[in-house]
Amino acid sequence: MPDRKPWTAAAEAIDPALVPRRRLYTGCLMPGIGLGTFGSDHVSHQAVADAVITAAAAGYRHFDCASVYGNEARIGSSFRELFASGLDREQIWVTSKLWNDKHGEHDVIPACQKSLSDLGLRYLDMYLVHWPFANHHPPGCDVASRSPHAQPYIHANFMRTWRKMEELVDRGLVRHIGTSNMTVAKLRLLLRDARIKPAVNEMEMHPHFQQTEFFHFLLENGIEPVAFSPLGSPARPQRDRTPEDSAPIEDPVIVEIARRHATHPASVCIQWAVQRGQTPIPFSVNRSHIVSNLQAAVADPLTPEEFSAIEKIDRNCRLIKGQVFLWKEGQNWEDLWDLNGEITPE
Ligand SMILES: NC(=O)c1ccc[n+]([C@@H]2O[C@H](COP(=O)([O-])OP(=O)(O)OC[C@H]3O[C@@H](n4cnc5c(N)ncnc54)[C@H](OP(=O)(O)O)[C@@H]3O)[C@@H](O)[C@H]2O)c1
Repeated sequence: MPDRKPWTAAAEAIDPALVPRRRLYTGCLMPGIGLGTFGSDHVSHQAVADAVITAAAAGYRHFDCASVYGNEARIGSSFRELFASGLDREQIWVTSKLWNDKHGEHDVIPACQKSLSDLGLRYLDMYLVHWPFANHHPPGCDVASRSPHAQPYIHANFMRTWRKMEELVDRGLVRHIGTSNMTVAKLRLLLRDARIKPAVNEMEMHPHFQQTEFFHFLLENGIEPVAFSPLGSPARPQRDRTPEDSAPIEDPVIVEIARRHATHPASVCIQWAVQRGQTPIPFSVNRSHIVSNLQAAVADPLTPEEFSAIEKIDRNCRLIKGQVFLWKEGQNWEDLWDLNGEITPE
C-alpha cells in the first residue's frame, strides 16, 4: 500500500526558498525544477499521484502535468490532500497542456476547464499547447500509429488555437501560456502574430541533445526553456526507442563527473541543466530519486571544466522523435522538426 500519511515536510526536505527560480517575461517567478508526471504508459496513475505528495514533502513546488497523461484527476486528489495539510495554492506552480485533439476553436477552453476540474484548481500557472500538430494519437499506441486526419503544421490553424489560449489568460483561468515541441521557424511566426507571447517553450534537452541554437533563440526572445526528459528518459515508451539512441546517464564524461562528486549521473544531468539556465522536469516515483534530483538543483555548481566537458558531449540525439504525429506516408521523423530552418510543407 502506498504511504497515504498527510503531507508534512520530509526530514531530507530542501527549503523551497533555496531552489533556483526563473523570472518569466511577465515578472513572475517559476521554480527552476519541476516534477514530471508522465508515467510513460507503464507507471500507474496512483503511483504518480503519490509521487506528487512525496515531491511536495521533499520541497518541489513545480509540477508538470498534461491531460494526455491520464492522471490529472488522481494528481488533483494529491493537491487537495496537500492543501488540506497546509500547503497554499500560491506556493505551487502547476503546468498543464492542451492535447492535440483539442486544438479546435470550440475545444480549447473546455479542455482547459476539464484539466482545472480534474486537478481541483481555480487557475493554472502555465498552460501549454502540447504539440504544434493537431494530430491525435491514443495513449499507449505503437510507433506506426497515425491519426487518420493528420495534417502538417498550418499556422493559420495554430493561431486560431492560440487566440483561445490568449482568451484563457484574459478570463483568468491561466496565468501564462506557452508552447512545447516547437521549432525556431514555428516560433518566429508565433512571436510575429501573438497578442500574448509564449512564456516558456517545453522541449527535450539533456547532455546528448542540447539544442544550443534553439536554447539561445529562446533566451534572446524572453522565452524560458523548460527541459523535458532531462535524464534521457530511460523508461520511455517502446515507440520512442530506436537503435541509434544514446543514454546521457551512461556517458563516460557524466559518469566520471558523478564519480568525482560521489553522486549519481542523473544528478550531474540536473546540475548541468540548472546551471545552464533551463528548468528540468525529471520524472520519478522513487523517493530517493525524487530527493536527490532536487538536491542536485541546489548543489554546488559544476566546475567550469566539468561544465564545458558536458557541452562537448552533445550528440544531437533526439529521443522523443514524435513519429506518431507525421501526416503522410513515406515521411521521416525529421520532417516534424524543420531542420533546414523552414516549416516542412504539406
Ligand atoms: N512536453 C512534452 O511533449 C513532454 C515529452 C516528454 C516528457 N515530458 C515531461 O517531462 C517529464 C520528464 O521526462 P521523462 O519522464 O521522459 O524522462 P526523464 O525525467 O529524463 O527520466 C525519467 C526516468 O528516469 C528515472 N530516474 C529519475 N530520477 C532518477 C535518478 N536520480 N536516478 C536514476 N534514475 C532516475 C525514473 O525512474 P524512477 O521512477 O525509478 O526514478 C524514470 O524512469 C515527463 O514526466 C513529462 O512531465 C513532456
